[in-house]
Amino acid sequence: MAGIGGLFSSDMAIDLGTANTLVYVKGRGIVLNEPSVVAFHVRDGRKQVLAVGEDAKLMLGRTPGSIEAIRPMREGVIADFDVAEEMIKYFIRKVHKRTTFTKPKIIVCVPHGATPVEKRAIRQSVLSAGARRAGLIPEPISAAIGAGMPITTPSGNMVVDIGGGTTEVAVLSLGDIVYARSIRVGGDRMDDGIINHLRRHQNLLIGEATAERIKTTIGTARMPDDGRGSNMLIRGRDLLNGVPKEIEINQALVAEALAEPVQQICEAVMIALEATPPDLAADIVDRGVMLTGGGALLGELDLALREQTGLSVSVADESLNCVALGTGKALEYEKQLRHVIDYES
Ligand SMILES: Nc1ncnc2c1ncn2[C@@H]1O[C@H](COP(=O)(O)OP(=O)(O)OP(=O)(O)O)[C@@H](O)[C@H]1O
Ligand SMILES: [Mg+2]
Repeated sequence: MAGIGGLFSSDMAIDLGTANTLVYVKGRGIVLNEPSVVAFHVRDGRKQVLAVGEDAKLMLGRTPGSIEAIRPMREGVIADFDVAEEMIKYFIRKVHKRTTFTKPKIIVCVPHGATPVEKRAIRQSVLSAGARRAGLIPEPISAAIGAGMPITTPSGNMVVDIGGGTTEVAVLSLGDIVYARSIRVGGDRMDDGIINHLRRHQNLLIGEATAERIKTTIGTARMPDDGRGSNMLIRGRDLLNGVPKEIEINQALVAEALAEPVQQICEAVMIALEATPPDLAADIVDRGVMLTGGGALLGELDLALREQTGLSVSVADESLNCVALGTGKALEYEKQLRHVIDYES
């Protein structure tokens, strides 16, 4: 149905994440969800796109010399402009398929901590990828809308979006940001923590894909009550003799490896509470904290945060989709949310 004779809107909302990119099309919902990865063939010094998204992610850490797999987003912002643009173009084209299309209006969310230069880079690459207009919306607002929080009421709402690159802690009231802080700690740092811990304590070298699999399979933010938790078999390279090796690790080891990033996330929440005006802070004590993003799915993170802050903590439904859904809603109800969408800077 969509796109017949260009009668239907092709306006889009994009969550351009460090780990995943999601595209929401007005009136249709989320139509694309793929890793933010691009693989290139390098021939005579020239780069040719080989794969984007899911297929490219499978190549990360497994490429021969002639192929390069790149994640163009780092810590929530564009790290490689040309590659990011290729990726956005590819995804927009994929969503449009062959239906006729007038240039779409596109809303993209940006981390609260993004600098004006970083914001301009995001807007510019969306425009060069074929958008007619590019609007930016602060990511915490999208996350809160997508999590179904009543952000337009005169009351304090705290949302903590834990992505691949950043964690954004924000307090919202009356549809806008009262306080927000972005720390460059998220899922990637957790993966690094696991890699470093295994290298230091087990003399085992593993890649990022294995680290992420460990985190999503037995990862936990709290030391297991029995001091060990469940086990997992993993493979890597023995640093002592250089050969592949298989070992069994338990959740206690992973909890130790993740202790630092988990602590940093807890601290960011505490700092936000201290900086929040007292009446709004009282609302947050009543309503609790909402977690969104893929990092919110880390085992027992909600419990660890509850123990450390004394607040009640919930994980949003579809936490990986919240930001895209919220940005999509901002597109659908643009009139009501005009004040937070920036088409200019
Ligand atoms: N079950 C899980 N347990 C722990 N971490 C998880 C789980 N599922 C996904 N993740 C992690 O969530 C992260 C991706 O989350 P998300 O898609 O929200 O990030 P992003 O929006 O791309 O990044 P950012 O918002 O920082 O730009 C990855 O680091 C991924 O490993
Ligand atoms: Mg995100």
